[in-house]
Amino acid sequence: MDSVTTAAELRTRIAAWRRDGARIGFVPTMGNLHQGHFSLIELCRRQADRVVASVFVNPTQFGPNEDFARYPRTLAQDQAGLAAHGCDLLFAPAVEEMYPFGIGQTVRVEVPVVSAPLEGERRPGHFAGVATVVTKLLNLVRPDVAVFGRKDYQQLLVIERLARDLRLPVEIVGAPIVREANGLAMSSRNQYLSAEERERAGLIHSVLLGMQDEANAGAAVAEIERLAYNALEAAGFVVDYAVVRSAQTLLEPAAGQRDALVALVAARLGKTRLIDNIEIDPDAPVQSLFERDHASATNSRTDL
Ligand code: PAJ
Repeated sequence: MDSVTTAAELRTRIAAWRRDGARIGFVPTMGNLHQGHFSLIELCRRQADRVVASVFVNPTQFGPNEDFARYPRTLAQDQAGLAAHGCDLLFAPAVEEMYPFGIGQTVRVEVPVVSAPLEGERRPGHFAGVATVVTKLLNLVRPDVAVFGRKDYQQLLVIERLARDLRLPVEIVGAPIVREANGLAMSSRNQYLSAEERERAGLIHSVLLGMQDEANAGAAVAEIERLAYNALEAAGFVVDYAVVRSAQTLLEPAAGQRDALVALVAARLGKTRLIDNIEIDPDAPVQSLFERDHASATNSRTDL
């Protein structure tokens, strides 16, 4: 696997592949790669002849109190992992290469509405930073297909919208969430957890499965959210949100809406903020951990 740091080198490599008629796939990352990232490379590999990955810790998507400076940078290790998983080319630019006019003067890409709730509300400017850097990266690589994880569900919606609205000639593919054995979604931030916290953090996925069950059993959204919130707080999480939303818009579901729902959780365990979600499958088997004695949740069902 080759590795380049400048836009000019990147363009030269990709132009040569294009001349050969290759279909180009792209996986943007911030590095510190784990199996979640590698699964994106593998999925991309199946959809393209050549796979380009980027490793770039993007300053514009971090808030002033977030972890930009201490975000783990492990380029040599990432390079080896990418090569082992079938990546053809790594683009690992410096900040100046991505922001040639400086961060203060960069053109910014804003994706309204879908950026606004949830993460957008808690992390002002975050999605503008993501949309800006992803637009720049897509314009440099000009891939036929680009793969993003469903782990960052709202981010995927933001990027889908930006690609459609700017008519970018790229297919955006969402890859399934890769989890630890206990259900914890893999994330670079998991390494900040103690061994005990890491074990406890598996609860988030159980709660999401419980939310799916409650939704499928016909429970009211407010009741589902209350159960999830309480289960997480009882286990020592500080909950930012635990909500059920329309999968396409992230708006509150219409009364009685049973399909195209997603449950999303953001919660802190100690100093570490974790996010996860489940796209609710109306046909999923029951896997709930919730108690079954809540009047408003049980009224609407017959056999649970
Ligand atoms: P990063 O957090 O490094 O994630 C890169 C990609 O890996 C994202 O599409 C993310 O959703 C995906 N990913 C992370 N953990 C995953 C998991 N457990 N299962 C499946 N996919 C997972 O997201 C970013 O970087 C940045 O915002 C970026 C898009 C690169 C723009 O800077």
